[in-house]
Amino acid sequence: MTASPSSPRKILITSALPYANGPIHLGHMVEYIQTDIWSRFQKMRGNLCTYVCADDAHGTPIMLRAEAEGISPEQLIAKSSIDHQTDFAGFHIGFDHYHSTHSDENREFAALIYNRLKDKGYISRRAISQFFDPEKQMFLPDRFVKGTCPKCGAHDQYGDNCEACGATYAPTDLINPKSAVSGATPIEKDSDHLFFELGQFAEMLKTWTRGGHLQTQIANKIDEWLESGLRGWDISRDAPYFGFEIPGEQNKFFYVWLDAPIGYMSSFKAYCDQSGLDFDEYWQKDSKAELYHFIGKDIINFHALFWPAMLSGADFRTPDAVYAHGFLTVDGQKMSKSRGTFIMAKTYLEHLNPEYLRYYFAAKLTSRIDDIDLNLEDFAQRVNSDLVGKVINIASRCAGFVTKKFDGKLAASLSPSAAELYAGFVDKSQEIANLYEQREYSHAMREIMALADKANEYIADTAPWVLAKTEGKEAELHESVSVGLNLFRVLMNYLAPVLPKTAAEAREFLNIQDSSWDAITQPLLNHKINPFNALMTRLEMTSIEKMVEASASSLGAKSAPDGKKDDPKPKKTHNQSEHPMTAENTLPTAISAEFDPLAATIGIEEFAKIDLRIAKIVHAEAVPEADKLVKLTLDIGFEQRQVFAGIKAAYEPEALIGKLTVMVANLAPRKMRFGVSEGMVLAAGPGGSDLYILNPDDGAKPGMRVK
Ligand code: MSP
Ligand code: ZN
Repeated sequence: MTASPSSPRKILITSALPYANGPIHLGHMVEYIQTDIWSRFQKMRGNLCTYVCADDAHGTPIMLRAEAEGISPEQLIAKSSIDHQTDFAGFHIGFDHYHSTHSDENREFAALIYNRLKDKGYISRRAISQFFDPEKQMFLPDRFVKGTCPKCGAHDQYGDNCEACGATYAPTDLINPKSAVSGATPIEKDSDHLFFELGQFAEMLKTWTRGGHLQTQIANKIDEWLESGLRGWDISRDAPYFGFEIPGEQNKFFYVWLDAPIGYMSSFKAYCDQSGLDFDEYWQKDSKAELYHFIGKDIINFHALFWPAMLSGADFRTPDAVYAHGFLTVDGQKMSKSRGTFIMAKTYLEHLNPEYLRYYFAAKLTSRIDDIDLNLEDFAQRVNSDLVGKVINIASRCAGFVTKKFDGKLAASLSPSAAELYAGFVDKSQEIANLYEQREYSHAMREIMALADKANEYIADTAPWVLAKTEGKEAELHESVSVGLNLFRVLMNYLAPVLPKTAAEAREFLNIQDSSWDAITQPLLNHKINPFNALMTRLEMTSIEKMVEASASSLGAKSAPDGKKDDPKPKKTHNQSEHPMTAENTLPTAISAEFDPLAATIGIEEFAKIDLRIAKIVHAEAVPEADKLVKLTLDIGFEQRQVFAGIKAAYEPEALIGKLTVMVANLAPRKMRFGVSEGMVLAAGPGGSDLYILNPDDGAKPGMRVK
């Protein structure tokens, strides 16, 4: 049975929107590859499937990262968008549309949904007390506060949980809390916040969760959360914040996670405007179109609780299903920068064929949420033995004979036994289709490889290389290699969702156009093919080693641990009885680096980016309003710089004038309360009066580069 061409299913699918403040890595790729395989499969089946995504462009980390880089958030997200799309294209991710949450469509939908929720009484307002950075003049998300764990005393822990003992707590519970933005001691401050009253959706969510829209493991988890009661969700953030201003409010912005899933709608809307698809047909309440979200297990609460509630409260349809996957480990462990297993998509693509990874992930993916391990040796072995050794090898063993001996033409008919073999391959079509449909890719790959084994047995049994040397065996030889290539064609068609590029090249070689799932019902007979070129080469372990080496050295101190989100369980936090789940995205590089001095080794290229220069202190004065700061005027030969240094307790400003020191000359300028700081001087020591600026020997000249 196949999808009837008269009524193709209308399907809209999404992958989670990657944050614009970081590069795409192989962990992300699990999701985009999983979704892309499904999308390509649906399209092959003749369904009208649309796959949209976007960059998730808002939030505190993006704002701070842009600031640290000395660019506007708009510039930062424009660059990320290009980088992300380049990486995705490199892995053959075939989005129908890629958008941004910082777009007109998204601003409009966010306002529309918020206003509808508000009109229906689902939004409430109350004051909460939060940590505030007096230096930066901003409220601090939990992950931007660091201090000593109140439970075990571990230093340098985030404001939401302790990585040493696992305790969860409020930032205000930390001992000696510090702002991760400025280093200042935060103060507690009140502010009004807006809450989406999730509790009013308890019944709706109970029904929805049990309605077959979620994997069992997840439905069970959500049940637990529902049992323990739902509290309001804080959807507002105070300025400064990079996001959309909340209609009717002053200096309040939508929390990034409010407008992020709305980005699915916005991306689709932008696509409708180009393609002529009907937006309402997909999103109105009684829509017959199908809607599926592919996500990682870390963001289930947003997709299986808040999002369906928001949609239902705003009179839109809810998703047919949310499909969560597990996390990627490499060689059995969390991806690690120091081991070189934190591999960027870009780095991978510089060393290896993207289809190797697409196949390996497919061979590992199931419909469950178990983590997936990329074992590098197994990876090479699997790709070589399955793809190169079993599948591509069929074509390379048969093609030459067809070209040389039969003028590039396949046999005109098949013997009954060969026809039966071919029919047996085609008979598997529905079973394999069902496995793709159910996201049981691993099982599908096993079935396909079992067929490949059969094809290879046939070739070994008929031994075309022997027939070629035997007088009077032309017809048998012709059948053997023609059957071999026909079986190869079926295999490549089954693998096409996973290996789109090789499948297209195989079609070119076989001189066929039809790329639909059912293209293979009849064998190619009396059919002219093109000369064969190697379709895929072996994966060499040395390439993997080079990639790991490049990953280990190209990464400096990078952003906070990947995928770090708050505990998704709705939890009570300190005195803010109803301020749960303030998951923010990960910390920007510059900020976490300050707190993680030994986090990562850096390569020589990374070091070479730091422009260290000899500077002459031509002027120094204390900043009266700041208890630590001295304002320095530094001469670096070609220009003068103003730098604020926290060395007041260690030096009399006057004593510094005329001294030589070392400065970081290419640090992005930082706006501070007393002016802009245009660099940093290097000093050593625990701090306070016990601090020493570096003082080069006589002979060094201002502006000399430190090497
Ligand atoms: N911006 C949010 C999603 C908003 S959706 C409305 C986000 N971004 S993310 O960049 O951190 O992650 C994007 C997707 O990649 C998420 O589904 C996440 O689970 C997935 N992964 C990120 N790291 C991953 C691994 N190491 N392994 C598997 N998937 C991972 O979350
Ligand atoms: Zn602890």
